[in-house]
Amino acid sequence: MFVPELIQRKRDNGHLSHEEIAYLLAGYTDGSIPDYQMSALLMAFFFRDMDDAELTSWAGEMLRSGEVLDFSDIPAPKADKHSTGGVGDKISLILAPLVASTGVAVPMISGRGLGHTGGTLDKLESIPGFSTQQTLPRFRELVATLGCGLIGQTGSICPADKKLYALRDVTSTVECIPLIASSIMSKKLAEGINALVLDVKVGDGAFMKTPERARLLATTMIAIGKAAGVRVTALLTQMDEPLGAAIGNSLEVIESVEVLRGGGPADIRELTLLLSAEMLLSVGRTGSIEEARELLVKNLDSGAAYEKWCQLVTAHGGDVAAIHDLSRMPQAAHVTQITAARSGTVVGLACERIGRAAVVLGAGRAKAEDSVDPAVGFYWRAPIGAELREGDVIAELHWNDEARRDACIPMLRTAISYGEKAVKPPLLIDRLDEAALTPAPIPASRFQQVRRG
Ligand code: URA
Repeated sequence: MFVPELIQRKRDNGHLSHEEIAYLLAGYTDGSIPDYQMSALLMAFFFRDMDDAELTSWAGEMLRSGEVLDFSDIPAPKADKHSTGGVGDKISLILAPLVASTGVAVPMISGRGLGHTGGTLDKLESIPGFSTQQTLPRFRELVATLGCGLIGQTGSICPADKKLYALRDVTSTVECIPLIASSIMSKKLAEGINALVLDVKVGDGAFMKTPERARLLATTMIAIGKAAGVRVTALLTQMDEPLGAAIGNSLEVIESVEVLRGGGPADIRELTLLLSAEMLLSVGRTGSIEEARELLVKNLDSGAAYEKWCQLVTAHGGDVAAIHDLSRMPQAAHVTQITAARSGTVVGLACERIGRAAVVLGAGRAKAEDSVDPAVGFYWRAPIGAELREGDVIAELHWNDEARRDACIPMLRTAISYGEKAVKPPLLIDRLDEAALTPAPIPASRFQQVRRG
């Protein structure tokens, strides 16, 4: 095949066949197709989009570029959840042990913080001793024995995505819905799961700023899942304000543990229950959402989910004493209360700026090679609808570095829009499943060679 001809055809709005896409992705992964040709192709996709056949071929070949886990010998049904990224989103830390406590296995491969959003791996690694770098045989053992494993991406899973993601990052081709959808789905389908629940965030603190874009991303991912024979459900949820109050790795673990002990912020508990119930229903663990919710509430309130969490922490090398006694989690050297400069009702928040403020403080990365400070972050105390008087606390800052603190404070202060009457955004905006797909046929043959557990 002549690569410039394939790029030209896509550039001119033509169609690439399955064989051509397989050739391009295999060549890029093994290094025989250089970055400059793949960059041109990605930009052609950015402007010309992918049709359904190209989409499923692209996602299927990304998946096949590496190892696909097969947990079919583990009798429990397998399900996972993926969030497109938010501010204060610590749901995975609660959901994974909670769902596992009901007998549904959760083989969870997570990522690090991206841009202004936090990442599950960084949060887990703030627990002293916790290792997310487990071998795949050890991951399998954790899923088989505890019903859950929490690891990071390995070199053998979707190597095409690893190379492509880095290239997209520097060629302004990240924000392309078919490329985002196939990047996320190829990694999730490699987990050998039967069902996947997507938390597609919408709002200022999300990558998808409008429900329309979020719906398009969700249906694109559902279509990829359908072609692979994996049941995918998507909840569109609001990200116009942080989830819970804690933002920052150690603080978010502490808040998650409070929810696992039956307390914690109401929005975190509710979103965890909504997503977990979909997982139980998707794999047939319960016959209805109501039944799923009842079982999940019971396991949260009885301590069964907390007990599973403690077992998981220990199995990953973490110090469970820091979970039982949260004062042993990493602590910042200083705590400062940030106060409102004026009175008024909080009618809106620059949620992305709040997420960026946490990165500036050291809780996230400005560059991929930066390290994160596990202890720093803040509790956000001014949710939408709060009626503030001048001098009221808007955030409790946990900090270690004066220059970072000074850069963070104005970002938090200016994140608030004051007004007369606040409209609280609903947590759940929409729910989508295969029924939301237009009747376009998805060629299932693209995934036929993929093993699933
Ligand atoms: N997360 C991913 O894994 N891939 C993308 O392309 C965007 C977000």
